[in-house]
Formats: sequence, C-alpha cells, structure tokens
Amino acid sequence: MSRPNPVVALYPGSFDPITRGHEDIVRRGLRVADRLIVAVAHTSTHAKRGLFSVDERVSLIQEVFGHEPRIEALPFKGLLVDFAHETGAQLVIRGLRAVSDFEYELQMAQMNQELSPDVETLFLVPEVHHSFISSSLVREVAALGGDVSSFVSPPVLEQLRKKLAG
Ligand code: PNS
Repeated sequence: MSRPNPVVALYPGSFDPITRGHEDIVRRGLRVADRLIVAVAHTSTHAKRGLFSVDERVSLIQEVFGHEPRIEALPFKGLLVDFAHETGAQLVIRGLRAVSDFEYELQMAQMNQELSPDVETLFLVPEVHHSFISSSLVREVAALGGDVSSFVSPPVLEQLRKKLAG
C-alpha cells in the first residue's frame, strides 16, 4: 500500500520475549500502517521481573522479522508518546486478547490521548488460537520444562532454552 504520507505505527510492549501472538498483531498492524516499529519499553506500567534484557528482546524481534523491510525493532526509555513524536509515529497499536485486557488498555490509551491528542491508539485482535498466549506464561511454562514451541518462533525458543539452561 503506498500513500502520500506513509503511516508509521508503534507497537509498544515488554516483549519478554516476543510470542506468536505478538507476531500476529504485527502482521495485522502492517495492514493499516506502511511502517511498524516494535518498541521495547525499558519501563512498563506492569512492573515485571525480566528474563531477557531489553537489548536481547530487541535482537530477538529483529531475528524474527529480519526479512521484512517495513518492520523495525527499537528500545525506548521514557514516555511512549514522546517516542512516538521522535519516530514520527501517528499510531500506537496494542493487541486485545480478552475482556480482562480491556481496562488496563483503555486506561493507557486515554492517558496517552490526554498527554498527546495527536497520537491515536488502535486495538487489534489476534487470531483466536493466539488469545491465551502471553510472555509471562511462556516464561513460566518454559522454566518448568513445558513445551512452548508452538507459542514462540524458533529463534526465541532457542534463546529461551539457552537462558533457562544457564
Ligand atoms: O507489554 P506491556 O508491559 O503490557 O506494555 C506496556 C507499555 C510498555 C506499552 C507501557 O507500560 C508503556 O507505554 N510504557 C512506557 C512509559 C509510558 O509512556 N507510560 C505511560 C503509559 S500510559
């Protein structure tokens, strides 16, 4: 799709690590945006203990989407809306898996709207068989020896195995 003013979207999150559910949202995002930046936050509103460093998460995303020139992965510090201005993004994309996601997502979208009315939040819905996947469950299942090969891409699986073995 080519438009006079290319639409740049930010897809922010923790991505610790990126899952097939995130990948699905990225692909859907490319239907509405010309370029999509997967933005890995140093500071998440959900304070979580990380497994991968922010740089490792960015590298994994780059490996997963290496072949796709419209997708970029970048780390960011500070406010999401400031990063949107820095990168020229007009859109913030977030995935909505279930009603339980909604309250948190609505609150963030409205806060971002208040902070910066020019940045629009767009919610996208993953395929139903990706709806139960979350990075935190992938970390937990993998740490307990479960098979997560259908929830993450091969490079992520390999790094998860290495991380949990060491
Ligand atoms: O994957 P997550 O952890 O649910 O993503 C949350 C994230 C990173 C999108 C959110 O915490 C965020 O935007 N953090 C950056 C700091 C910021 O702008 N905070 C105010 C959000 S309303």
